[in-house]
Amino acid sequence: DDLIPSGKSYTVAIIKPDAVAHGKADEIIMKIQEAGFEILANEEKTMSESEARGFYHHRAGEEKFQELVQFMSSGPCHVLIISRSGDEDVIPTWREFIGPTDVEVAKKEKPESLRAQYGTEVLYNAVHGSNDREQASRELAFFFPSFKLQQQNTEESASRT
Ligand code: TYD
Repeated sequence: DDLIPSGKSYTVAIIKPDAVAHGKADEIIMKIQEAGFEILANEEKTMSESEARGFYHHRAGEEKFQELVQFMSSGPCHVLIISRSGDEDVIPTWREFIGPTDVEVAKKEKPESLRAQYGTEVLYNAVHGSNDREQASRELAFFFPSFKLQQQNTEESASRT
């Protein structure tokens, strides 16, 4: 099994079907690396509608849910596990890097962000990033069931000190 060292901060990112369909995946991956992020895993995946529904289950019932599900299952995406050495909380760092959800806002307020550069509207915003640790952990289990977080054995480390 692939291991993420215990205590290492990670987030789950997605290069969404719009950006992949526009042929931008490689370019985006280069920018991610140039910005100093580490890509621990990169898997191309086409979500089924039911997987997309599961992935965004917290948005179920919203007016545009079906559109969101259709979009996310419309073609291949790249699912990435992102980390950054020396960054003990990569989740907000990554959210900053991708920019605001709404591409119009991103273009005005963070023109250098990925969503400003590659998104075309609020739904088609090119990139995803986990919101918090719980979501990152759920998304990791969802997309990478073979990835294991190295167990923190607190009893053992306590007995060593
Ligand atoms: P959300 O989880 O709120 O945003 P984020 O992706 O920044 O964490 O929403 C999930 C996706 O739903 C979002 O990336 C695009 C879509 N969405 C809309 O189409 N319209 C909206 O008003 C919102 C809030 C989201």
